[in-house]
Amino acid sequence: MPWSNNPAVPEDAVIGDERKLATVLFADLVGSTALASGEDPERVRFRLERFYEAMADEVQGAGGTVEKFAGDAVLAVFGAPAALEDHAERALHAALAMQRRLGELFRGELALRVGVNTGEVVVGRAREGSSFVSGDAVNVAARLEQSAGAGEILVGERTVSAVRGAFELAEPQTVEAKGKPEGIAARRLVRALTLQRPRGVSGLQPVFVGREPELAQLQAAYRQVIERRRPLLVTIVGDAGLGKTRLVRELWQWLAVEEPQPLQRTGRCLPYGQTTFWAFGEILKEQLGILDGDSPQSVLARLGDREILGLALGLDVAGNLHPLTARDRFQDAWVSLFEELTVTRPAAVLVEDLHWAEDPLLDLVEHLLERVHGTLLVLATARPELLDSRPGFGGLGGETLVLEPLKADATMELLSRSLGTEPPGLLGDVVAQAEGNPFFMEEVLGSLIDQGLLERRNGGWAMKELPSGFLVPDTVQAVVAARIDLLAPAEKEALQAASVIGRIFWSGPVYELCPETEPNLRLLEERDFIRLRLGSSIEGEREYAIKHAVTREVAYTSIPRARRAHLHAAFASWVERFGGGRDEHAPLLAHHYTEACRPEDADLAWAGAEDEFEGLRLRAVAWLRRAAELALGRYEIDEGLEYLNRALQLETNDLARSELWRRIGRANTLKYDGEAFWTAMLNSLEECGDRAESAQTYSELAFHTVTRSAMWKRRPDPELVHGWIERALELSDPDTVPRARALIARSWYDPTLFADAAREASALAERLGDLELRSWALAARSRSSYATGAYGDASDWSKRRLELLPEIGDPDHVAFIYFYALDPSMAMGRFDEARRIAAAHEEVTRDLTVHHRLHGVACLLIVESAAGCWERIRDLRTAAERAVARGAQARAGRGRSGNGRVRLPARSVRIHLSLARGDLDDVERRIPKESPPSSTRDVDILVARMDALAALRRRDQLEAEAPALLNPGTYLEPFVLRALGIVRPDPELIEKAQQRFREMGLDWHAAETEALAEGAH
Ligand SMILES: Nc1ncnc2c1ncn2[C@@H]1O[C@H](COP(=O)(O)OP(=O)(O)OP(=O)(O)O)[C@@H](O)[C@H]1O
Ligand SMILES: [Mg+2]
Repeated sequence: MPWSNNPAVPEDAVIGDERKLATVLFADLVGSTALASGEDPERVRFRLERFYEAMADEVQGAGGTVEKFAGDAVLAVFGAPAALEDHAERALHAALAMQRRLGELFRGELALRVGVNTGEVVVGRAREGSSFVSGDAVNVAARLEQSAGAGEILVGERTVSAVRGAFELAEPQTVEAKGKPEGIAARRLVRALTLQRPRGVSGLQPVFVGREPELAQLQAAYRQVIERRRPLLVTIVGDAGLGKTRLVRELWQWLAVEEPQPLQRTGRCLPYGQTTFWAFGEILKEQLGILDGDSPQSVLARLGDREILGLALGLDVAGNLHPLTARDRFQDAWVSLFEELTVTRPAAVLVEDLHWAEDPLLDLVEHLLERVHGTLLVLATARPELLDSRPGFGGLGGETLVLEPLKADATMELLSRSLGTEPPGLLGDVVAQAEGNPFFMEEVLGSLIDQGLLERRNGGWAMKELPSGFLVPDTVQAVVAARIDLLAPAEKEALQAASVIGRIFWSGPVYELCPETEPNLRLLEERDFIRLRLGSSIEGEREYAIKHAVTREVAYTSIPRARRAHLHAAFASWVERFGGGRDEHAPLLAHHYTEACRPEDADLAWAGAEDEFEGLRLRAVAWLRRAAELALGRYEIDEGLEYLNRALQLETNDLARSELWRRIGRANTLKYDGEAFWTAMLNSLEECGDRAESAQTYSELAFHTVTRSAMWKRRPDPELVHGWIERALELSDPDTVPRARALIARSWYDPTLFADAAREASALAERLGDLELRSWALAARSRSSYATGAYGDASDWSKRRLELLPEIGDPDHVAFIYFYALDPSMAMGRFDEARRIAAAHEEVTRDLTVHHRLHGVACLLIVESAAGCWERIRDLRTAAERAVARGAQARAGRGRSGNGRVRLPARSVRIHLSLARGDLDDVERRIPKESPPSSTRDVDILVARMDALAALRRRDQLEAEAPALLNPGTYLEPFVLRALGIVRPDPELIEKAQQRFREMGLDWHAAETEALAEGAH
């Protein structure tokens, strides 16, 4: 008797609409109109009835559902309303059976065309005259059917890959279809190869890993049977694909070489289309050497006086016996058979997949264990559902071996051994999704190989970057979906609600999201879908986790998009109510409100409820902004940018969009990504029609561009920058923040020309009481003093800026204060102070981005190289190299090439290197003819110039340039004295230079001075 479907699936498994991965079958009679012409309508009707019945019979026999008959066509679905793990295989077996059946019915007068296709469908409640399954997959199946020849079965691509290995298919062909420019790829079905799809990935090594303790337990069970001479049952329980069959296979090989060598027999329970005792029928056939084609007479002859065992083969041997008597005799005959078999040697019997067995078979197994006297080991494999329908099965005198997922190291071993080499780096993460289920792992590998994402190359394997949205393979999705569909409606709904909340979820909102049912979460726990967690991040709520990421994914995708949106909205509102809208929930709220109002699903979810949608959209934007702000505050810049970008997708107001772009721009400055900053600011300007807002944006564009010069790969054109500064000044009102900021930018960019801009900015910032601007205005003043060589003034302004530090919280700003305090401090020869500043700078940068950290180390190096403390530089080398490598990585990650750039006075270093090598020609080439303009009074360049002119003995030039640079008490002073001392020559000046060096603690320079002076004599 074929089963209509999996018996454990609840009748009312479908609550509302659901999305399912299913296989759709279309079949149509060819030539029936010709046949009907001239026929009596009653006869035509009669034939059609017979056709319908036969087709329905085959569909249902394979566990499918007939959707509708229309004229002489049939639409059937496998995997809906209830999911089936092997929907694709079943559909193809059914298609073959339908063809066979049609041949028998009409003896070649009529032929059938069949199209089969797998895809996502929506299952709804059936309506009068229309089917309840819909989706593109249905249309494609119909199209395939129309293209099939008479008697042919055309199979879509997705079905083909789901059944790989179980069927023979012809070469691929392309079928034209409306609305599909590339056509539909399909293959003709030739024949079935096996009843069950073989597992494993073709082309990969089959290996066996882990499971040593489990194998030892089975071996011990066998030894115990031998010792005690009594039967023993071991039931191996574990989820689909965890390796029950594989484990038994290992034991089987071990038994085959044991002494005494046992008799080994195997029977399997099938998911559909079997007789009650099918598994034992297989054992009997193996034992008696019965073949499929044998006649009943010859079978009966072999059974001898155990004729009643014929029941296991579906033979009608019970005659008029009372059913209970027949059962007793049947069971006793098995007992006597096994006793006979175990007289001479032990026996091991394996019954696979007991979760698909009916009760009488389970009763038989238990009966054997109680009654047989002999050395009989019975092994059974089953999924956990068995224990739901038959709690305590095999408990009496039996053992249960529960298989757990493979441990992470065993999974990695499995991966590298089956690939035969170290797996490519990326693959480990993908395979980790399988969470220790070797079947899932194989399917993920197989689908990567099929899609050409994982390839053999030069004796190893190479992996391409995964396209976003790389999904759970269909085969895995089907297995998991089938398991979920075994749940009662209330628990299934709860699991779906949980999947909306996330991998981690709480009981309260699940109940709230399922208002019409009363789910029992314990049941989900018992079925091993979820786990209660210790403690909870939401007070007073039980916290659970969905055990497998794949389960969450499959449960989530089964919810129609419209319902998903409502569930997200309901959960977000729950979090807001219960959490009181606290900041810590901002990311959660941002996520759920965003998912609730995805623009692409709004028509499905919120048609006719525009106000509600609008409310959700506003909440989403508000929480995204808050989450962004918090993330940026933690210097999780990428995370913050992600939130801002999502907010942008939902924000419709121009002004608000412009402001969001500005925030995006600012966040990019923290990453030192000049190009992204620039683009964002220009976008902000484009969307902005407001003068004051534009002034603000231009002022920020100019300000960050000039103060954060390290963020540019290629510095923007000066004309452009000047343009931004001018626009900002033009558009901004007097006495406003943007004006102050623009003035700072102006003076910063041309510090010698616009010292007055710095002065004005400083006064304005003080008036406005804006701390950030006050600080930057002081920096601008310091900078313009420095540029004119007034190092003492530069240092004074810098000190005033340093005094603001206690009031400033933003670490990026703090870092900048130290960063720009360094030059004035060194210029005044205060190296102890400079070291303290560099150290404090390095410390704040540690918690910031890699770019900041790079600056942190760079500043330490700059101080020590100016001081000539080469040993300290050597000590810093590892830290520096590490920082540069990280910086380079981060830049490469953003698609930039090249090294991390450090603000190093490259020109002066080159000159010094050439001097050290004695390559005076090169030195000559490198120094500008003219004294550097006052705007580039970078001390290290001037130092290099003095040294170079001295080495080249350019006395005239030195005599002309030196007086302006002889500023007492500065770092530069002894270098100037030394140069003059060398060219004149004047030992007193040399002496004085040495003394000045020593006073500043620059001993290496003092010693160097002596050496240079000696060389000059
Ligand atoms: N320990 C293991 N080492 C290597 N491969 C394994 C191991 N266990 C299982 N596999 C592989 O994983 C796949 C699934 O295993 P298997 O068929 O034994 O699972 P199962 O538990 O019997 O599943 P089902 O409940 O569907 O019958 C097989 O291809 C198998 O070879
Ligand atoms: Mg198995």
